[in-house]
Amino acid sequence: MLHDGLSSRPSPRPSSPAGPPGLSSLLGELARLAALPLELGETLPARAYTSEDFHQLEKDRVFGSDWVCVGHVDQVARPGDYLRTDVLGTPLVITRDENDDLHALSRVCRHRFMDVLPPETTPDQGSLKRLTCPYHTWTYRLNGEFAGRLAGAPLMNKVEFDRTACRLPRYRLEVWQGLLMVSADPDAPPLGPQLADLEATLAPYRIEDLVVAYTERWDGVPANWKVAFENGSENYHHMGSHANTLERILPGKDTVVDECEGRGFSMYTPFVPDMELPQGPDGADLVGTLIPGLGMRQLSGMTVAGVFPNMALALLPDSVTFVRWVPTGPVTHDALVTVLVPAEAKRKPDFDAYVAASKEQFKVIQTEDLVAVRGVQRGLATDPAPSGGRFSHLERPLWQFQRYLAERLVGETTAAP
Ligand code: FES
Ligand SMILES: [Fe+2]
Repeated sequence: MLHDGLSSRPSPRPSSPAGPPGLSSLLGELARLAALPLELGETLPARAYTSEDFHQLEKDRVFGSDWVCVGHVDQVARPGDYLRTDVLGTPLVITRDENDDLHALSRVCRHRFMDVLPPETTPDQGSLKRLTCPYHTWTYRLNGEFAGRLAGAPLMNKVEFDRTACRLPRYRLEVWQGLLMVSADPDAPPLGPQLADLEATLAPYRIEDLVVAYTERWDGVPANWKVAFENGSENYHHMGSHANTLERILPGKDTVVDECEGRGFSMYTPFVPDMELPQGPDGADLVGTLIPGLGMRQLSGMTVAGVFPNMALALLPDSVTFVRWVPTGPVTHDALVTVLVPAEAKRKPDFDAYVAASKEQFKVIQTEDLVAVRGVQRGLATDPAPSGGRFSHLERPLWQFQRYLAERLVGETTAAP
């Protein structure tokens, strides 16, 4: 397999405790925490949520090299479709070429490095025959290669220039459960086998066959991305943050967290037995079209699953929502939400009303979550920094997350207790 352009990319730095003194003590603490059994688990040190050095290390060793979710196959369903995405400042585009093959390409033009699909003038997704850089019109095929001798790079025939060696750099792309996963590391082990634990749990929802109902984003949330990801990885907080909403239909105390290992987690919460069908804020119907083929278990509750580093899915009888928390600095992130529904839902006359009600409801829940996320970040920023917070058994995914972080950042091998 080719990974053009990646070979010149610096590979992730070898694991070592080198770096600023504050950082090495932080990594030492992370290694200590990752070795604790869940029963003794403690929160990450506050500095892991505030330190610029720790953020830079995460950029290198997590987002700059590990598998990260960038979307769903429905967003590039037909030949010619593209989806723009940025993984921590790296401008990428996912394309489906005329042979139906998917590609993850750098958007950095090989001429003078302009963004070939600048957000100032092009939509986030759409359809194209070629990728033409708007600066001097160098043109690439949807697989990243140059489009042709003359059309590809105009007025370059009077200088020595090897068109054949010139193409948009390619990134690794894997479709897992219909989700587009990319990695900048040509040597990253394939993702699918690392998530084998989740397959039986997710299979009934057939996520790959669902379609995008809508997307939402909350940019510039003033908290470290891990605060929000950890919030999305446990239902313990239903009884506090969501006491008047989610807790009424999905009580946190009824959640059973699966004993996963590695980089994926899952949990299940049954609906309360006498649940009234939920309605949107204005009384609109909030129950959409059921995902075909679900069994009693899936129809009777919510599954939450997550993939480290930064994505979690909420799987309900009528929809699958995945959220990505993308860092934009040590103490800020963007929250990107994608709601998937069965294809037939979009053909129903009340689909627009369902989407409007679902968006409203999501805003209510997200507002409740943001109070917690912002409040935790304020707590973490206090002096002296708080430490040693203890986990409930419902917070197993946070404990598991520390072990993942230690593996990426410290190089620690964390065997199960
Ligand atoms: S920078 Fe793209 S054509 Fe010049
Ligand atoms: Fe929440």
